[in-house]
Amino acid sequence: MSGYKEWIVVCKEADLQENSRLVVPAGEYAVLLLRRAGRIFALGNSCAHLGCKMARGKIEGFVITCPCHDWTFDIRSGEFTAAPEIKIKTFPTRVQNDHIYIEIEHSGEQNGQY
Ligand code: FES
Repeated sequence: MSGYKEWIVVCKEADLQENSRLVVPAGEYAVLLLRRAGRIFALGNSCAHLGCKMARGKIEGFVITCPCHDWTFDIRSGEFTAAPEIKIKTFPTRVQNDHIYIEIEHSGEQNGQY
C-alpha cells in the first residue's frame, strides 16, 4: 500500500509566538514548530546525525544548532549546512482559522504502530 499525505491541525496559531518553539505530535512524527521572521517552519525533532532532540538547539537567524555535537541545519530546508544532502525532515505549514496545520505523509504501512 502506498503512502498518502494529510493536512492536520497541530496547535492554535497564538500558541506559537515570534521566536518561540513548540514540539507537537503529528501522526507518527514529533515535529518542532518554529516561528521566525513571521514565518512558520516545521521540522522533525530528531537530528539527522544521531537523533538528539533539536528542540533544545540554539537558533540564530534561520540556523539551528544541534545541542549534542553542534551540527547546524537550515530550518527552511532542513539541510545540514556542511553537507546539504543530509537533511532533517521538513513539513509544509499553513495557518487556517487561527490554527496551524502541517502536511504529513503517512507511510501507508499497516504495522500496527502509531
Ligand atoms: S546528534 Fe545532532 S549533531 Fe550529533
